[in-house]
Amino acid sequence: MTLYSLTYTLHVLPALIWVGGMFFAWMILRPATVSELDTPARLKLWPEVFRRFFQWVWAAVVMLPVTGIGLLHLRFPSLETAPAYVHVMMGLYLVMLALFLRVRLLQLPQLRRAVELRDWPAGGAALGRIRRLVGFNLVLGLSLVAIAAARPIF
Ligand code: HEM
Repeated sequence: MTLYSLTYTLHVLPALIWVGGMFFAWMILRPATVSELDTPARLKLWPEVFRRFFQWVWAAVVMLPVTGIGLLHLRFPSLETAPAYVHVMMGLYLVMLALFLRVRLLQLPQLRRAVELRDWPAGGAALGRIRRLVGFNLVLGLSLVAIAAARPIF
């Protein structure tokens, strides 16, 4: 295995875990909990789901730029000569990071507080806000992977 293929693998795996985790949460787990659990059980479940998933997302948000910049240096002479899709990737990464930090640092504590106080309407509102942002981040993540795979020439 060359250094490039190792770095490439360590770049693609965190992308897979982050985007795939959001896909599973949004498309599979969310509708399953809506159909099978009552509101208090659902609102108690999600903070625990996020606590476990976000440990992996933290690892991904560190690994992606480290390995991405590694790939940049191994493959292209400089950042200026890297193709536009790599610049798009970096820009979308920053947007995805900002949305993740908003959910993790602002909205998840609101959900936890509402669950502790057994304030189910406030908890439902907080979970709704998280759902919207995670949905948006999922669309960004899927688009980013599609752009990375297609390597379009702008
Ligand atoms: C600072 C952030 C990032 C940098 C600097 C970066 C940089 C790079 C570079 C240089 C490549 C190799 C391009 C090539 O071989 O033509 C690459 C590939 C890739 N990146 Fe990123 N990346 C970043 C963030 C992300 C994120 C957030 C994701 C997805 C969530 C992602 C997904 C991918 C994928 C799937 C590939 C493989 C594309 C393919 O060869 O089919 N990257 N990245």
